[in-house]
Amino acid sequence: MKKLAALLIGGIFALSVSSVFAADLSCLKCHKTMEKLSASIKKSGAKSADELVNFLRNKSAKKALHKSVKDEDIKKAFEAAK
Ligand code: HEC
Repeated sequence: MKKLAALLIGGIFALSVSSVFAADLSCLKCHKTMEKLSASIKKSGAKSADELVNFLRNKSAKKALHKSVKDEDIKKAFEAAK
């Protein structure tokens, strides 16, 4: 029983830590590293998280590739890339 509780607490801890470090960002499935992703974000010229969402949704030539990503993840990526 104690072991189970420890596993549960460990799991919750690991989840909360990974969201802080953006390691679970859906973007990284395709953009292999945070460095490369930051470079693409900078190149897009977006100056705020909302501009980046607008860019990827409406303006980018690659918008079809980004249909499945969440706004929340785009914003997180912007914050992480700054
Ligand atoms: C299904 C795969 C996939 C996912 C998931 C994905 N991307 Fe992309 N993205 C690409 C590809 C392919 C390109 C074009 C090649 C490149 O720039 O690496 C691209 C290009 C970009 C560009 C440059 C676009 C342009 O028109 O200049 C930005 C910015 C970007 N992605 C941001 C993100 C962010 C932020 C996320 C997560 C919220 C994300 N991508 C998730 C595949 C993906």
